[in-house]
Amino acid sequence: MRVPMKIVLVGMPGSGKSTFGMQLARQLNFVFFDLDKIIEEETGKSISYIFEHDGEGKFRELETIYLEKYLGGIEGFVLATGGGTPCFNDNMELINKKSISVFLDVSLEEIYKRIPKNQSGKRPMFSGLDEGEIILKLKNLHADRERYYRQAKIIISGEDISTEHLMSELMTFF
Ligand code: S3P
Repeated sequence: MRVPMKIVLVGMPGSGKSTFGMQLARQLNFVFFDLDKIIEEETGKSISYIFEHDGEGKFRELETIYLEKYLGGIEGFVLATGGGTPCFNDNMELINKKSISVFLDVSLEEIYKRIPKNQSGKRPMFSGLDEGEIILKLKNLHADRERYYRQAKIIISGEDISTEHLMSELMTFF
């Protein structure tokens, strides 16, 4: 088995990128990075604050800056991106050039179940929306974004979020 040294997880909000990324990094003895957390730490502002005060455009700029920085840095990591990261500023091309990308493919039905119950300050895209509006927003985002996610080098189903299942699916590629 030959495990790539830079693994980047992409997929919709609620697809399990951060949860699985952390477990994957632990099992491989790699460092785990979460792009949203990096942005919060580097700027000293929460994702919600950036969206509200600086605007989504600024957030997308910051995503690209820190994505480039971390992709060009140390080896031996798993990086969980934000749901929109691959869809702006040619980020998916950059990810594929510098790492092995993994798309956690989860059906919209499953995402619907996970997201409305899992609102936090980290997801300003959905703040102030009722459940019906969140579902509509997710449907539109998914329609726009799927073509980027599908450019990932590895696609695994994230429908079953158990680590054992995801690990065994992923390891078939290495
Ligand atoms: C976003 C998803 C969030 C976060 C930001 C924007 C998006 O990350 O980056 O709120 O555009 O889908 P998660 O995918 O971890 O929720």
